[in-house]
Amino acid sequence: MKTPLEQTTPLSSLVKGMIRVNHAGEFSAKRIYEGQLSMLQDPHSRALVQHMAAQEAVHLEKFSELCDKHHVPPTKLLPLWDTISYGLGVVSGALGPKAAMACTMAVEEVIETHYENQIKRLQDIQPSYEQTLQNTIGDCLADERDHHNLAKDENAEDLLGFSFLKKSLQVALKVAIGLSERT
Ligand SMILES: [Fe+2]
Ligand SMILES: [Fe+2]
Repeated sequence: MKTPLEQTTPLSSLVKGMIRVNHAGEFSAKRIYEGQLSMLQDPHSRALVQHMAAQEAVHLEKFSELCDKHHVPPTKLLPLWDTISYGLGVVSGALGPKAAMACTMAVEEVIETHYENQIKRLQDIQPSYEQTLQNTIGDCLADERDHHNLAKDENAEDLLGFSFLKKSLQVALKVAIGLSERT
């Protein structure tokens, strides 16, 4: 028979993994937009990216608070994600507004599914299990959906090579998510 500690450990590591990967994701989102803003010139695109970057900063703050509350250290891979995300932002921003928006569309599509799955997993344990975490994920999810729609409305899909870029980014992102959950 399992001790109470043994029974709670898998759930607690599930929650910690969720917080760790979400913190890494929101940190990376903020860095992508900072990279884009270092290159984008067009005032309209800059305003949109600044708006999304401000929301990502709030998301990051919320997950930083949850890291503190649950004693979750950030992923060890954070310096790597920092460089890659900022670099991705610089490159997509240098290619122009459509490439920047294509990057957002590709990323948010994966993040939406990621957040939906997390909420489902928590609710499967118990409808109100880790309610604060559920609420935080839900709030972020609503914003990520807005970002996705905003990028779509900016005709991101018209970018030459959009499908290839989207698929490549999404494969890389899924690998990054898997790694950040564990380390
Ligand atoms: Fe976010
Ligand atoms: Fe976002």
